[in-house]
Amino acid sequence: MLQGKKILLGVTGSIAAYKSLLLMRLLIKEGAQVKVIQTPSSRDFVTPLSLATLSKNPVLADLFAGDTWANHVDLGRWADVMVIAPLSCNTLAKMAQGLCDNLLLATYLSAVCPVVVAPAMDEDMWAHPATRSNLDRIRAFGNAVIPVEKGELASGLYGDGRMAEPATILEYLHALLGQRDQQVKDLAGKNVLVTAGPTYEAIDPVRFIGNHSSGKMGVALAKEMARRGANVQLVLGPSTLEINEPGIHLQRVSSADEMYAACLDKFEKMDVAVLSAAVADYTPVAPSPEKIKKNTDTFTLELKKTKDILKTLGGLKKQGQLLVGFALETTAEREYALGKLEAKNADLIVLNSLNDEGAGFGVDTNKITIFVKDGTELTYDKKPKQQVAVDIVDQIVKALYA
Ligand code: CTP
Repeated sequence: MLQGKKILLGVTGSIAAYKSLLLMRLLIKEGAQVKVIQTPSSRDFVTPLSLATLSKNPVLADLFAGDTWANHVDLGRWADVMVIAPLSCNTLAKMAQGLCDNLLLATYLSAVCPVVVAPAMDEDMWAHPATRSNLDRIRAFGNAVIPVEKGELASGLYGDGRMAEPATILEYLHALLGQRDQQVKDLAGKNVLVTAGPTYEAIDPVRFIGNHSSGKMGVALAKEMARRGANVQLVLGPSTLEINEPGIHLQRVSSADEMYAACLDKFEKMDVAVLSAAVADYTPVAPSPEKIKKNTDTFTLELKKTKDILKTLGGLKKQGQLLVGFALETTAEREYALGKLEAKNADLIVLNSLNDEGAGFGVDTNKITIFVKDGTELTYDKKPKQQVAVDIVDQIVKALYA
């Protein structure tokens, strides 16, 4: 499946570096061409000789060797994918900052291919806020992070931090490179904005008004559009979902107001905007800066309307931009959905009905009807959300090129 694929394998200083040899064997067995770049400290964990023997290529480690210069730009352009496994805490921090003090980092900064990393570190390092923030940062740059696994760690502790198994990394590469080959790139070069998830409206520092949205439908849409070649800007409300896909730039927000600001900032450059988030319609007028004590028998909270993102973007929409809204109704579904198409100047409205079993919040399936501005109405069977995303994106593409 990886026959002929050009893979740059970056190895950094970590006990898990022995697993790079196993990963390398799997890659070679599948027919991939592998070039290895080691950081200086990784040589304490795995020898260049072992890596060179298995990859059948000399191991690259230095920016300069004698009077020759290793051309990191060529390396970065040669590869179909760069995989850094294991990724140490130190190299992660350098990637997050754009530092360039070895060949691996210089190549990473020059790479035009997708970059996939498999971190490995001890649990406390993994949990440290600096690591979390560095990971968010490199994800925001478009790199894919393969989650660590739970298990026994080099320290003897048990917990999160083990590098993903070579077979898991291989599976990830199959999905990444396989999909790239098979998928129609009908959104290549298009800029797409997707909103997903709930919003949290603060009542005080510990309480909020939220809803049951998981963000699954919007994230499935973002992934499907990225797979078809779009540059996706995903604005995601509070959600536990991890986003690792290349091609998706993630901005996490909390409140309706933050989501509004993020969308307004991005919309002008977008070809398509798909607003699937379950945005709160109302927010507290005056959130308390301190925790509210239960001193009274009754308690009234004054709410004001949030800004309607869909309607605002509908007002700003220019020729050539496509706007897709969602509707979730319990009564008079068709009438309300058609009303939203008109009132918000949308091009498509995707209706999911809470009356349908297996549709809506939290579940992995959905049942939708799509209303198009030209009067077309398409009703679909209940399907997994990933397949629903394919149906929706098919209609987006059709409307975009109509
Ligand atoms: N939406 C939005 N900004 C809001 C509220 C909703 O962008 N402040 C978007 C949602 O992402 C969705 C669409 O509007 O795409 C439909 O949301 P919904 O709340 O059902 O529509 P409203 O017309 O605002 O609500 P109602 O049904 O109460 O009229």
